[in-house]
Amino acid sequence: MRKIKKLVATLLAATMVLAMGVTAFAAENDSTALAAGTYTANQNLYKDAACTNTSMGDAAVNDMWADITINADNKTATLVVHTHEIKYLGITGHLGKMVIDGVTGVMATEKVDGVTDYSFTFEGLDASKFYEGCVITGQFTTYVGVMPMSSTGYLKLTGIE
Ligand code: HEM
Repeated sequence: MRKIKKLVATLLAATMVLAMGVTAFAAENDSTALAAGTYTANQNLYKDAACTNTSMGDAAVNDMWADITINADNKTATLVVHTHEIKYLGITGHLGKMVIDGVTGVMATEKVDGVTDYSFTFEGLDASKFYEGCVITGQFTTYVGVMPMSSTGYLKLTGIE
């Protein structure tokens, strides 16, 4: 190999290593644990873990924020999921129970401009579950009419700041 070509090859290799390094760093950065403190996040509810099928319940959460608190011990976190009642085909319903990692969220209700909001507070969750784009698996019970229906859903948290 001629010298000049070798130099180009070396530079190319170095550029590739650099580019790969940056990509690896970016991917790593995404799942970096949050520092102790309080955050808000966009919340979206999906039917599948890959978050490709939006849940019917998404309309009850996607226009509100979630509150995340990473406690000073850096091990435990508090999550507050905010939801509101929605109408579907003229029938009003809401998410009335949420369970994450065996923890049942403490529900609070508030009427705002004639619409009832339902918030669910979970204490003592594993802090390492929370990072940009994390997907929290939970059991969501829907109250529409008289029969509550429970289903597994995937709550994706983005835009955490
Ligand atoms: C007229 C009112 C409604 C009808 C007829 C209805 C019908 C249905 C049906 C047939 C399913 C099962 C099909 C599937 O899994 O895709 C389903 C699932 C579900 N519904 Fe509804 N629904 C109504 C209102 C609501 C409301 C008001 C909410 C939430 C506040 C809700 C939340 C859900 C959830 C979370 C599921 C589990 C599957 C998913 O995540 O999409 N539904 N509903």
